[in-house]
Amino acid sequence: MLKIGVIGCGAIGTQICKAIDNGSISAHLVGFYDRSSEHCERILRSLKNKPVLSSPDQLISKADIVVECASQAAVKEIGLSVLEAGKDLMVMSVGAFLDTDLLKKFVLAARKNGCRIYIPSGAIAGIDGLKSASMATIDKVILSTTKNPKGLSGAPFIVEKNIDLGSFHEKTLIFEGNAKEAVRAFPANVNVAASLSLAGIGSEKTHVKVFVDPEASRNLHEITVIGDFGTFTSRIENIPSPDNPRTSLLASLSAIATLKKITEPLQIGT
Ligand SMILES: NC(=O)c1ccc[n+]([C@@H]2O[C@H](COP(=O)([O-])OP(=O)(O)OC[C@H]3O[C@@H](n4cnc5c(N)ncnc54)[C@H](O)[C@@H]3O)[C@@H](O)[C@H]2O)c1
Repeated sequence: MLKIGVIGCGAIGTQICKAIDNGSISAHLVGFYDRSSEHCERILRSLKNKPVLSSPDQLISKADIVVECASQAAVKEIGLSVLEAGKDLMVMSVGAFLDTDLLKKFVLAARKNGCRIYIPSGAIAGIDGLKSASMATIDKVILSTTKNPKGLSGAPFIVEKNIDLGSFHEKTLIFEGNAKEAVRAFPANVNVAASLSLAGIGSEKTHVKVFVDPEASRNLHEITVIGDFGTFTSRIENIPSPDNPRTSLLASLSAIATLKKITEPLQIGT
């Protein structure tokens, strides 16, 4: 049975641990770690089968795969040790991989140690089509994201530009740039821009628009891809996670689906 260790006990980590605990993923939860002991204890209380609390090093030695669902900093702190120990790594804070030197180091370590790095599709639909399309030429990838002001508060772009999120009365474009700039401006919001870049034409060519909408109760992502294959558009209205308005529930579900895929013989999708 696949042995899973989880780093980060927030909205996504909680859903993953519960999915293992209730048998939705046929795997064993060997442990989890969070820099907040309060968050660890909250998860522990919600599980029937309670793993022993572990340090990152203990998790790495016990698990077959370590799932990062914490922060870009956690990817940098823990990711390479996971791969150097020959263990697989799943990364949710995908924005970290727009640092091309970091990504190269990780891929090299994975290759050298015979392990894999998994990046779930996250909060969007269309990564499958984009990956297929990238086998020929792609001309354009455009992502438009619309969020409620609550989902954008505290982002570096909002703070640096001194934007008063309470001042918007209608849907308004507040950011336009490439995916690299978008991830720097909204690190906790546009991991999807990073995933699209990695699956498609890179972070400098992937175009991102961020809208704020006080009427929005869902996180909206609209993706347009144009290439040799033709054109596709995908539009998804995500329900925010009950534990974190910045994170869509679908992101947790995609992490669970990726872990399930690893444990099953039938593989569907690109
Ligand atoms: N790929 C996607 O589509 C997608 C979608 C949503 C969120 N995310 C990303 O996934 C990550 C987790 O999201 P979430 O909604 O569960 O966040 P969250 O804020 O609800 O939980 C994160 C948890 O990780 C812990 N943490 C943060 N940095 C840590 C570190 N360096 N070491 C140990 N623990 C640490 C925090 O204490 C917190 O409990 C975030 O980086 C988020 O941006 C990705």
